[in-house]
Amino acid sequence: MSTTGRSFTVTRVADPSTEAHFEDVIKGLASTPKELSPKYFYDARGSALFERITALPEYYLTRAETEILEREADAILEHVRPDKLIELGSGSSRKTELLIRAMEHTGANRYVALDVSEDALCEAAERLTERHPELDVGVVVADFDGSLDVIERHGRRLVLLLGSTIGNFPPGPREEFLTRIGALLKDDDRFLLGVDLVKDRATLEAAYDDAAGVTAEFNKNVLRVLNRELDGNLPLDAFEHVAFYDAENAWIEMRLRATRTVDARLRGIDLALHFEAGEEMRTELSCKFTRESVERSLAVAGLALERWIEDAGGRFALVLARRAG
Ligand code: AVJ
Repeated sequence: MSTTGRSFTVTRVADPSTEAHFEDVIKGLASTPKELSPKYFYDARGSALFERITALPEYYLTRAETEILEREADAILEHVRPDKLIELGSGSSRKTELLIRAMEHTGANRYVALDVSEDALCEAAERLTERHPELDVGVVVADFDGSLDVIERHGRRLVLLLGSTIGNFPPGPREEFLTRIGALLKDDDRFLLGVDLVKDRATLEAAYDDAAGVTAEFNKNVLRVLNRELDGNLPLDAFEHVAFYDAENAWIEMRLRATRTVDARLRGIDLALHFEAGEEMRTELSCKFTRESVERSLAVAGLALERWIEDAGGRFALVLARRAG
């Protein structure tokens, strides 16, 4: 569905208010150990909590990526000279403004943002159209499970996947997703990927278990989303936030641990849920990368690395890639 009432266009592919959107909840909660897709974090409250995370002293990712963009956005846009930016998982589009400004310097003015959170999308689109009157904005409400065919094909495109969003995909699904992105790209198009880099455990674990407890709130928010959307009665006070770095797999794993026996229901999908005391449910993976691991994943997906740009502290990298061959 498309509507044009505002100064930007909204296309709705995923509708988070339908049961189909929650299909994999049943599968995830029926598996052992239980798991949930991180896409359920991002209702309006979850998106706001994530925005607070990006400002936390421990969560260096956003600042490191912003530092790179502040330094390199003009050079990247000069090099690629796209007609438009297409951003996957755009969230608040805050960092993207640096690229939008750089794109405007080169005379282009089209920005398409795709995200699962309609609230975040519309807030961003309103802010952007106000600050950039010349900018032609389109927003697409969609998750990454659906087809990426909704993305417009004409013109030279710079496709963005920033913020280490790719980290949510474990190896396997990661290459599958990158392959789908690669399949979108024409020879002239480019792909700009933000990746968080492997580093010491203490820094990584602090970033996902902040002193103020915002990440814990964000993690537990998924229980509120399930209760509201699927008519559930999961007791929020019976779960605690767990985050640890698995160095072998090079990923941060977030879990919710039941602090006592829990028997609950999700009436909307007719599901009875039982947790033993101490039982843990995986709610998110956040993979960490090296230049080598990125190059390997890109190669599997038919993509080739063109530029590798790190922040001064070597914490985060922006990767410019193109279709291989
Ligand atoms: C939005 C997936 C990049 O993995 O760092 C932040 C989400 N989870 N704190 C990340 C998140 C806990 C974030 N990504």
